[in-house]
Amino acid sequence: MMYAAIMGYGTIGSGVAEILTECKDKITRSAGQEICLKYVLDLREFPDSPVADRIIHDFQVIESDPQIRLVVETMGGLNPACSFVKACLKAGKHVITSNKALVEAHGTELMEIARENKVNFLFEASVGGGIPIIRTLYRCLMGEEIQEITGILNGTTNFILTKMDQEGAAFEKALKEAQELGYAEQDPSADVEGHDTCRKIAILTAMATGREVHYEQIHTEGITRITDVDFQYARKMGMSIKLLGTARISGDKALAMVAPVMIGSENPLYGVRGVYNGILVKSQMLGETMYYGSGAGKLPTASAVVADLIEAVQQDKEPVSAGWRNEQQLMEESGKFRYRYFVRIEGAAAQKKEQIQKAFGDAETIVLEGTDEFALLTGEFFEEEFVKRAIGFDTESQKAGEDGIRQMIRVQVQ
Ligand SMILES: NC(=O)c1ccc[n+]([C@@H]2O[C@H](COP(=O)([O-])OP(=O)(O)OC[C@H]3O[C@@H](n4cnc5c(N)ncnc54)[C@H](OP(=O)(O)O)[C@@H]3O)[C@@H](O)[C@H]2O)c1
Repeated sequence: MMYAAIMGYGTIGSGVAEILTECKDKITRSAGQEICLKYVLDLREFPDSPVADRIIHDFQVIESDPQIRLVVETMGGLNPACSFVKACLKAGKHVITSNKALVEAHGTELMEIARENKVNFLFEASVGGGIPIIRTLYRCLMGEEIQEITGILNGTTNFILTKMDQEGAAFEKALKEAQELGYAEQDPSADVEGHDTCRKIAILTAMATGREVHYEQIHTEGITRITDVDFQYARKMGMSIKLLGTARISGDKALAMVAPVMIGSENPLYGVRGVYNGILVKSQMLGETMYYGSGAGKLPTASAVVADLIEAVQQDKEPVSAGWRNEQQLMEESGKFRYRYFVRIEGAAAQKKEQIQKAFGDAETIVLEGTDEFALLTGEFFEEEFVKRAIGFDTESQKAGEDGIRQMIRVQVQ
């Protein structure tokens, strides 16, 4: 029997406790021994819960109990999660976390401490909720060079964009509905500004390259500027708009970005709707693989935590090498991304033919009946080149006393 403690009895922590009870026999068979939940650390009491007799409030109890070999961190945030996790690793306990903020900000240091103390530090649930993507990268694709990872990594924004796409809803209305259904926080900025997706793509890029990547290094745009009019154009072009976290790896360099992108129906991520997540991985020999499922929620996320618990038991004597080295990944400027561009411009296309040709070369024109504008779908440019061309177009427009570009959305190049 191996004894475990859970730190944080919230959505995910209570899910882990539930699965440990519900699926006890299967877990015992897989782990080769029983996992027994001894303590649940939280700030509150849970008198009516099945773990009422195991609730504690003092972290020292876990740290100093030599019987505790497994610790689950599902408190969230950095403080005190980071110091508790460090102390557990130093005390020779395996730690499993669902906390992406912790993994992104302190993963390198925690992985080193785990190596020094010959224990497992596992974090499958920190990206993609219940979708097995972290283990896929360090286990299933361990012989592959990863060339690209593109993911819909945030269920809240995907729910909002799906509502806008399928029901023609405005951003604010779709956000309100997400909040009413409990999919979005009252302060939704971490989701809608793209920061949550950014942390996750930073972790996936680090997993793929074996080097540290920080979210400050990744150009990030959210979905707050996307409108129902953009979706009207997208539908006319047979496309949808998704918030994508993308990392491309070539040689010793990586290129990463978080931004809303138009994708066509031929893209496997096109069909990822609602709160679901999808992650597309391109690797050297295998080619494209796609991972799809519940990217959040109590039991899906807790399922990933439990799988990590089982792996930690199996690898008790020989910890898993999952993570990255204490070495900075070289990141390219986001200007090196190559896309086509969807651009909305005030006025009539016929009157701006020359100006458009001068700025963007040959571009397709899309007109929405009953509007005072038109849109272009440009050819393929490096982002740095497109920006120069767009500035040129705006300058010409200003000279003519007209508004410039109203909206720009990147369009995936297959
Ligand atoms: N929810 C999801 O679907 C999901 C999916 C993937 C990953 N995650 C990640 O998993 C982590 C946990 O998320 P969650 O949704 O389960 O959060 P949650 O429901 O807020 O649960 C956190 C729990 O930890 C407790 N806690 C906070 N600080 C504590 C402390 N110092 N000592 C003891 N207990 C403390 C909280 O108590 P109080 O409520 O009293 O503050 C709460 O019961 C986060 O890092 C999150 O990003 C969540």
